[in-house]
Amino acid sequence: MSFAVAIDGPAASGKGTIARAVAAHFGFLHLDTGLLYRAVGRQMLDGVPALEAAEALTPDRLNDPSLRSAEVAQAASKAAAIPAVRAALVDFQRAFARREGGAVLDGRDIGTVICPDAEAKLFVIAAPEIRAQRRCAELRGKGAEVSEAEVLEDLRVRDERDMTRPDAPLKAARDAVTLDTTDMSIEDAVAQAINLIDRLRAKA
Ligand code: DC
Repeated sequence: MSFAVAIDGPAASGKGTIARAVAAHFGFLHLDTGLLYRAVGRQMLDGVPALEAAEALTPDRLNDPSLRSAEVAQAASKAAAIPAVRAALVDFQRAFARREGGAVLDGRDIGTVICPDAEAKLFVIAAPEIRAQRRCAELRGKGAEVSEAEVLEDLRVRDERDMTRPDAPLKAARDAVTLDTTDMSIEDAVAQAINLIDRLRAKA
């Protein structure tokens, strides 16, 4: 049986952490779909045309640690605004969502475009300043020298682009449950997500 969990939201809202924890809890497979766009963005920075990179993308490219940089994030957001790039990545994500045994996908358009029939949909948000603090701590933990102000600006530019693009913009699906993690610990946010999914699984 398949059971798809769609988790969408802006960068550093907590969606990735929640997605990983939910997948571990239920024994589902997890796909961070941002990595697909980051892998395309990475290649774009290396001079490969975005569509060519998207069409030739293989899963082994998703493990490259350099995909986590702020520079690659911006390139990913630009690549993600190209409809043909998004189209090239749809089948892989849909097949992943419908694997036997359950799947969690996190991104921007999972509940709206990739998997509108997902059994559980979450939209994770947090105040921009909190997201900047979290992302800053994460990047510093990896040795990057960044200021909170520059990370905040980076997130703002990316949010703006991701929310206003015509094709599959970042937005909550009509039937998604919104989780605002601004004042929540990771444990609380994960517990709430698990609780919701438990209730929906009982119905499925
Ligand atoms: O989640 P992330 O920060 O790794 O995503 C990087 C960029 O990829 C993000 O700015 C927008 C794009 N993206 C997207 O358009 N659709 C997705 N499902 C996931 C990411």
